[in-house]
Amino acid sequence: MHARAVAATTTALLGTAALLLPAPHARAGIATRPTVIAHRGASALAPENTLAAVDKAAELGIGWVENDVQRTRDGALVVIHDDSLRRTTNVEEMFPNRAPWKVKDFTTAEIARLDAGSWFGPAYAGTRVPTLEQYVDRVERHHQRLLLEIKNPELYPGIELQTLKLLGNEGWLDRRHLAERLIVQSFSADSVRTVHALKPGVKTGFLGTPAMADLPGYAEFADQVNPSYSSISRGYVSAVHAFTGPHGRPVEVFTWTVNDADTARAVAGYGVDGIITNKPDVVREALTPGF
Ligand code: G3P
Ligand code: CA
Repeated sequence: MHARAVAATTTALLGTAALLLPAPHARAGIATRPTVIAHRGASALAPENTLAAVDKAAELGIGWVENDVQRTRDGALVVIHDDSLRRTTNVEEMFPNRAPWKVKDFTTAEIARLDAGSWFGPAYAGTRVPTLEQYVDRVERHHQRLLLEIKNPELYPGIELQTLKLLGNEGWLDRRHLAERLIVQSFSADSVRTVHALKPGVKTGFLGTPAMADLPGYAEFADQVNPSYSSISRGYVSAVHAFTGPHGRPVEVFTWTVNDADTARAVAGYGVDGIITNKPDVVREALTPGF
């Protein structure tokens, strides 16, 4: 069925239930092809890697969000992209003598006091850096799916096991989540390999564009090869698809970070399986006009 027809049918079926549930629930489960993934949440519309960015993606009916996970000085997992707190929080103002303001040098309590929203816009003043626990709880509440990136794993020994333990404690490693709700990715092949070895049921992704000759090695531990859109062609995507991943299916391609309609249509034409974007509304409209 055409995606627009599916949406119409779903809306009709939801009927009175739509009055009881927030709108995001009604739409977030509807799939587009390729899959649209909100990068760092809907990060063109709300501060990246915050609960507000997850909420914005849900409001738009986007079923997948991507995030970045790192670790505090006292060992908590937090959701933030840079290894420094400087760009996306007011840490410089709050702790002027703590340059270069590395995530790993601040305690969880210190990070919890930072404003991670004002840099983006006054409407988001007071938004916090979420812990991974808070983040997955919010994603779960919206019935969304999570593309979790282990960021800078070389700075955080053991972060793979710690992340998996937290996901397990939060109910994210049950059969349903493993089958369709969770992918763990990293730019570090070692980190992806570690995740696969620790918990083979978890779907994994390697971030990068390996040489075609090296793809068989990646297919042993990665279900996805996720390259920058500027590095791929139809031939490359086909070459990736020709390999079978650790779960017995063709290796997929989620490409990043595509923020305009023309590029979205171009990479969709290459046959990618997912498009990671700061502007999920723009990409979805490009792929499925009038969705
Ligand atoms: O998910 C792909 C993308 O997040 C990789 O780049 O730097 O935004 O983490 P980056
Ligand atoms: Ca990322």
